[in-house]
Amino acid sequence: MGHRMIRRTCEDIVVAPSLLACNFSKIGDEVSRAISAGADWLHLDVMDGNFVPNISFGPAVIQAIHESNDIFLDVHLMIKRPDFYIDRFVEAGADNITVHVEPEAEHDVAKTLQQIREAGVEVGLALNPATPVEAVEPFLDQIDLLLCMTVVPGFGGQSFMPEVLEKIEKVKALRSDRGLTFHIQVDGGIDADTSVRVREAGANNLVAGSSTFGASDMAAAVAAVRG
Ligand code: DX5
Ligand code: ZN
Repeated sequence: MGHRMIRRTCEDIVVAPSLLACNFSKIGDEVSRAISAGADWLHLDVMDGNFVPNISFGPAVIQAIHESNDIFLDVHLMIKRPDFYIDRFVEAGADNITVHVEPEAEHDVAKTLQQIREAGVEVGLALNPATPVEAVEPFLDQIDLLLCMTVVPGFGGQSFMPEVLEKIEKVKALRSDRGLTFHIQVDGGIDADTSVRVREAGANNLVAGSSTFGASDMAAAVAAVRG
């Protein structure tokens, strides 16, 4: 199906349920459940067992989702050498691709961001809780989205790390100083309560796995994260 035409801005609240928390034996139904629940984007966590100590799914699964759904696909690459796989994820139907800034990802960050831009999809950059804002500063004018991880990446269901709130405030100030418009996304431990705190700090784009897919009333859970 086609790429999403309506671009969300950093003024919009975007709720992106993370498929990592779904029931994988019913993956198609789970995607439908997220869409019916009012998800704006679907967040797809790709893990290689190398950059992070967990393995999830890859482009074939994303392509299958893309072929039967219209929702915006937000692909979060937690892999070594993301630059080797950009084209494959674009072909699979990614609408945004986020790569990590940490040196353990072993790529030339500026080049990879440019590669994503040239492929015609939205460009995301992620930083781990322990990584300072200074690490992403050189790249801020290249991106559509900055993902401030609110847990150490690798697994769903972890607790939100409140020390990241200060980083979000710092990023928001930098963004306005530089006249930029990238989304500030958070990922990890986001639920009705932590969502209020990250939105107050300046995040507009909220990834939530356990709190949405884990809820029996997913529409209420998505609405609660949206606030
Ligand atoms: C963590 C992933 C997250 C994860 C969030 O490595 O990047 O997207 O699915 O899960 P919750 O919302 O359960 O913390
Ligand atoms: Zn993620």
